[in-house]
Amino acid sequence: MRKNGLVISIDGPAGTGKSTVGKAIAQKLGYGFLSTGELYRALAYKVFEAKIPPQDGEQVLALAQRLKFTFVRQPDAVLKMHVDGEVLGPKLHLEDVGNVASQVSTHKEARAVLTEKMRQAGQDGGIVMEGRDIGTVVFPDAEVKFYLSASAQERAKRRVKQLQEAGVNPDYDKILALIEERDYRDSHRAASPLKPAQGAIIIDTSTLTQEQVVESALEKISRYGS
Ligand code: DC
Repeated sequence: MRKNGLVISIDGPAGTGKSTVGKAIAQKLGYGFLSTGELYRALAYKVFEAKIPPQDGEQVLALAQRLKFTFVRQPDAVLKMHVDGEVLGPKLHLEDVGNVASQVSTHKEARAVLTEKMRQAGQDGGIVMEGRDIGTVVFPDAEVKFYLSASAQERAKRRVKQLQEAGVNPDYDKILALIEERDYRDSHRAASPLKPAQGAIIIDTSTLTQEQVVESALEKISRYGS
């Protein structure tokens, strides 16, 4: 057993509810919650700011090595990320930043740098970590591993609803095309492609509510060690 409890990994493509579900699980267990896409998004943001071409692996790596990440646990379980002492906040969630993040995350060496930061944040346990390669690469020894899936159409519908609630009127077909493009890149890249980890519990969320997914995950976690 680790000092602060279990490491619980949640992997899967974008739009499967990993963050909402992970946060809810962490709150229930009194654990911290880290959305590791934030690190890739922060790197993407800094790459963009420094006007580095996202495909330039060497420059992206040099920048990744210079970034200093710290995490501060919030009352709602979220580990709030500071990058070089600064909270980058909602701008990390712009569609463009997500796309650059998907590109910079194809560089193996830069991934290794961010992977190490994630391990430091989680090695003592008491953490739910969400991403694409947590159970496969970052914590292959995580005590409980989940893989959430959902059809691209269902995820596009969810994203459209989310954007509409934020006052934007997006085009469904464009959103679906972006999701399919990103899925393809994330699951076909040579470095740590997206796939279920060995021993992962796979939950198809297409027809489930988030409450049902949380309930099912908590039930599986309660069986750990028994
Ligand atoms: O989950 P997200 O949309 O915030 O992630 C942004 C990008 O970062 C996504 O395209 C894939 C990449 N990513 C990754 O490669 N490995 C992770 N553990 C988390 C995110």
